[in-house]
Amino acid sequence: MTDPIEPFAVEANPSPVDPAARAAILADPGFGKSFTDHMVSIRYRAGQGWYDARVMPRGPVLLDPATSGLHYAQQIFEGMKAYRTPDGSAALFRPAANAARFRASAKRMAMAELPDALFLESVRALVRADRDWIPPAAGSALYLRPFMYASEVFLGVKPATEYHYLVIASPAGPYFKGGAPAISIWVSQDYSRAAPGGTGAAKCGGNYAASLIAQAESIAEGCDQVVFLDARECRYVEELGGMNLFFVFDDNRIVTPPLTGTILPGITRDSILTLAADMGLQVEERAYAIDEWQADAASGHLRETLACGTAAVVTPVGAVRGRDLDFRIGNGGPGDVTSALRDRLVAIQRGEAPDPHGWVERV
Ligand code: PLP
Ligand code: COI
Repeated sequence: MTDPIEPFAVEANPSPVDPAARAAILADPGFGKSFTDHMVSIRYRAGQGWYDARVMPRGPVLLDPATSGLHYAQQIFEGMKAYRTPDGSAALFRPAANAARFRASAKRMAMAELPDALFLESVRALVRADRDWIPPAAGSALYLRPFMYASEVFLGVKPATEYHYLVIASPAGPYFKGGAPAISIWVSQDYSRAAPGGTGAAKCGGNYAASLIAQAESIAEGCDQVVFLDARECRYVEELGGMNLFFVFDDNRIVTPPLTGTILPGITRDSILTLAADMGLQVEERAYAIDEWQADAASGHLRETLACGTAAVVTPVGAVRGRDLDFRIGNGGPGDVTSALRDRLVAIQRGEAPDPHGWVERV
């Protein structure tokens, strides 16, 4: 069994991407399409524990066709970023929160729970190995994707006894490209993302698989993203396929849906709750209905709506459409509160502003 404190075995990639090709990627990384030279791999077996922790050249994983994760979707992941700081070092943002959420996701999916110390060291080890892959431009970062699947070769329906944990890294620019001042969102009325008692609060691949048909519908309707309503009443706004939502009002209040088990407990969401309170806003976690959203936007009581997440950072929502719905929010572009929250968050993440809450870890 691997001692989490021990350094990982490091096997350098003998044929890394050449520096000129890497520089071209870093200059315009896009999102999720280019990858670094290394990955982390750790194995788990019941009775043995976590073993064989290593940083190794990034490459394919050979899977037996009966690998249980391919059949019953015991699979979870995380999304986090390493930022280039002004002094040229690398910074992680609240990595302990990702470690804790990864463990919570594993628990919900009846998977082995990776100890936080091992999760944190895995991420640091990959950032150390691939630090030259952090894109320098503001708005860019190295996106880290820790994930785990059931690797036991067995077709019985039960929690697997073997797991494979990996971390890969991908230089990332802004998630939303194009010059639009704000995104438009489509209200899904035919599809739910998560139901009470389901897996909505876990970061498991199945939640995303279930959301894709609704996301495709939103694109077909000319929108950028889909927003899901609660599964029981189809009335309360929950979240987007990959982002949480906040609503900003004209009376100094900011509202976000509560964590009732059907939405992902976003780390950006949690950070914005804190930063908004720091800025003197009155913060409320409460259920907010689609009809309230429409009425408040029409009356002007609702000034701004923002979507937030690791990939999307803080993105203004300018318009909402659905089968019988079509409304604009504020002036259809980024509002003052959205811009202020985004600037504050990004400055802390990139080590450009004081970090009063101790969120940033240098690697
Ligand atoms: N909601 C969903 C469904 C997500 O996939 C994400 C992204 O990870 C978020 C919300 C935002 O979470 P975080 O801020 O931790 O990235
Ligand atoms: C993230 O923000 O990390 C996510 O997983 C969301 C996805 C849209 C990339």
